[in-house]
Amino acid sequence: MTLAATSPVVHARAPGKINVFLAVGALQDDGYHDLATAYQAVSLYEDVRAYPADDFSVSFSGSVDTSGLEVDGSNLAIKAARLLARKTGYRGGVRLEIEKNVPIAGGMGGGSADAAASLIACDALWGTELGKDEMHTLAAKLGADVPFALAGGTAIGTGRGDQLSPALAQGNFHWVLAVAEFGMSTPAVYAELDRHRERHAADIRPAAVSPQVDARVLHALRAGDSALLAEALHNDLQAPALHLAPGLGQILELGEANGALAGIVSGSGPTLAFLAPDSDTALELQVALSASRLTAVRAHGPVHGARVIHS
Ligand code: C5P
Repeated sequence: MTLAATSPVVHARAPGKINVFLAVGALQDDGYHDLATAYQAVSLYEDVRAYPADDFSVSFSGSVDTSGLEVDGSNLAIKAARLLARKTGYRGGVRLEIEKNVPIAGGMGGGSADAAASLIACDALWGTELGKDEMHTLAAKLGADVPFALAGGTAIGTGRGDQLSPALAQGNFHWVLAVAEFGMSTPAVYAELDRHRERHAADIRPAAVSPQVDARVLHALRAGDSALLAEALHNDLQAPALHLAPGLGQILELGEANGALAGIVSGSGPTLAFLAPDSDTALELQVALSASRLTAVRAHGPVHGARVIHS
């Protein structure tokens, strides 16, 4: 008997992520940049509930403002469900209800987590039982960060960011996220980086050299050492994101003046991720940022990847 026959709903959950290190290499012919990144999945989750339906639809609720989100075929969750149906020959549809807690267009992979959780939920609802490798292949077709939202934990991403190898990690890292009221377009931030590199072509790393994750990052993750990780946090997209949204610089300074070991632009921004030495300091930092009328949330990592909660 398939799950679809026994259960009218499947609930799956996938995490947001912080790139604790992100080095961007050359622009490739496919429009993507060669990357080397260290991902950490964090405890802000997207919850997807999948119900049997004849066609494909999605609706949103959650702790973030979801009013601007597309709910047509351009939505990544619907694309994920359709792709799985095409791949497996499943002939029905699905109604997806998504509870969002990852900041939207914030550089924390919320849309990618929606796609990963939708893949897992539909696979369970439809009883299609796709293998792990095939799931990964579908995920990579949906977006560079989607494979990591499936995998979770701590991982190194190369290529577009979709070629994953797990990284050893221990301990628990405490983060405070300062969430901007505006979103930023990922392609726009990469394009700003390209423009900057063209302007300063003589001073930068030759494009032919593949980017590498700094060994200090791997060491800090392996040791579970927040102070070491704080010293090694790095994001090549930070300068272009700050160029496009200069106000973020002041918020970085505010966080670092209120207990953060270090702050970094998360992915392509504008969310800022502050690493705290412990949970008490994280709470104090959250209060200080909130007192400055910023939206601040706490999260910890690493956490698990996309999985079915119950069905
Ligand atoms: O794959 P995803 O939809 O997340 O990528 C969004 C955009 O970000 C791409 O169209 C591209 O402009 C940029 N990008 C990039 N290099 C990467 C990942 C994303 O240039 N490795």
